[in-house]
Amino acid sequence: VKGTRSAPRAKPVVDEFARDLVGLQSLPRERLVGLLKATTLMKASLASRSGPKRTLAGRIVANLFFEDSTRTRSSFTTAAFRLGAEVLNLTGAASSVNKGETLIDTARNIESMGVDALVIRAKQSGAAMSIARAVACPVLNAGDGRHEHPTQGILDIHTLASALKRDRTFDLAGVRVAIVGDVVSSRVARSNIAGMTALGATVVCVGPPSLAPRSLESLAPGACEVSHDFDAVLPSVDAVMMLRVQFERHEEPAKAGDTRKPSPIASVREYRAFFGLTPTRTERMKRSAVVMHPGPINRGLEIDAEVADGPRSVILPQVATGVAARMAVLEDILLGG
Ligand code: CP
Repeated sequence: VKGTRSAPRAKPVVDEFARDLVGLQSLPRERLVGLLKATTLMKASLASRSGPKRTLAGRIVANLFFEDSTRTRSSFTTAAFRLGAEVLNLTGAASSVNKGETLIDTARNIESMGVDALVIRAKQSGAAMSIARAVACPVLNAGDGRHEHPTQGILDIHTLASALKRDRTFDLAGVRVAIVGDVVSSRVARSNIAGMTALGATVVCVGPPSLAPRSLESLAPGACEVSHDFDAVLPSVDAVMMLRVQFERHEEPAKAGDTRKPSPIASVREYRAFFGLTPTRTERMKRSAVVMHPGPINRGLEIDAEVADGPRSVILPQVATGVAARMAVLEDILLGG
């Protein structure tokens, strides 16, 4: 039961973790829609003259980031500040994880200081759930390995729905989204596939077979497709979400003692020729279709600068929406909706 601070708890039932946000795959559609509508309200409060209410005054949010981040950590920090909370920021490079302490011990120590929520970024898939099982306070997953990045999914879906004028109901029936690039390594893709298909959209994963294998279709049977032909997919979609090739994840050894460093792509030039989003390729898109990217961007590889900064791009609106989305999530988690 939440509130127990003794030894790590037994495997939870789903409801026990209603106060955590570890992923969109297990999130009921109603709660997702509720968080999206709350994001809209937070955006309005940020734009209002009086600003957001300081509903989290006196609360402490701890950001435990064991992997690099620009957007997510800054965005959670800004969101907490906007709601009046205080923020404790701990990064992997400055923590005793470097002295051999486990993530769970680190999380339990920080929880013991009396913080109200833990925001976790880690290299290990499943780290957020493991920590959620070990602590009593709410846990928010800020990206764990290749598993999930739920607040990125919420901000992406909100940005998409706003661009397509579906942000009153967040019903995405009939909407088609291409997620392009290193889909197999992407926690952003997994959260977006779960969230977008739950709202009625179809997601097409696009990339070479090594980065977009057929097995991705099982993430949302009937609503998630795989294609290796970007040019063929482009005219049919309402949004294109480009992903960075995560070279660092492919360099992780497949098993202990394995020193091979397999490259995810045979040739950068060839990858760019088939899967890079260039100005020429955007001409194949519907007039109304938008370009998204969760960041960080590798300009000139998966996306050209003219496209990233061009009229179809909603990349910076994604970042702006991220603050409102995280405000909505923090308030939901800490004040119980
Ligand atoms: N989108 C995203 O997770 O970016 P960061 O790694 O910079 O947080």
